[in-house]
Amino acid sequence: MAQENNILEQIVDRYDGEVGMLIPMMQDIQAEYGYLPPDQLHAMAKRLELPLSRLYAVATFYSSFRLAPKGAHDVTLCVGTVCYLKGSGAISEAICREFRVEPGGTTPDRLFTFQAVNCLGACAVAPVMIVDGKYYDGVTTASALEVISGLAKDEATVQNEGER
Ligand code: FES
Repeated sequence: MAQENNILEQIVDRYDGEVGMLIPMMQDIQAEYGYLPPDQLHAMAKRLELPLSRLYAVATFYSSFRLAPKGAHDVTLCVGTVCYLKGSGAISEAICREFRVEPGGTTPDRLFTFQAVNCLGACAVAPVMIVDGKYYDGVTTASALEVISGLAKDEATVQNEGER
């Protein structure tokens, strides 16, 4: 805990404790932990003498901030108009149901973080999904679930090899 407080102090000192530098400070915290841990936001609000609600307002306004840890993989599904008309709404629902995740959230086993976004600029090959930077076009519910299930299998293989 002392070390964590030390990290926060270093970040705040880096910006001379300037309230106007709140966003870079929060970015640095996120770079350190991968998300914005609630205890760090509490400590930061106290240190800067700001209401905690202000930090949460910033954290929820900017989509680059995350309030929960990220999963091992990133799954992004386009639910923009063209993709939606070609079935991405149903694909999104199936992913959420199958892997117990909400758009913007991470699966309970932290396998992946799921984002549903508007237009990935590849409407001609809709519906589009990106997994860890790789594009999948013309996805269906079945193919999307298969790709994501493959992530779980890969993780299990890596774990088993690590245990040998
Ligand atoms: S609407 Fe999905 S890529 Fe454009």
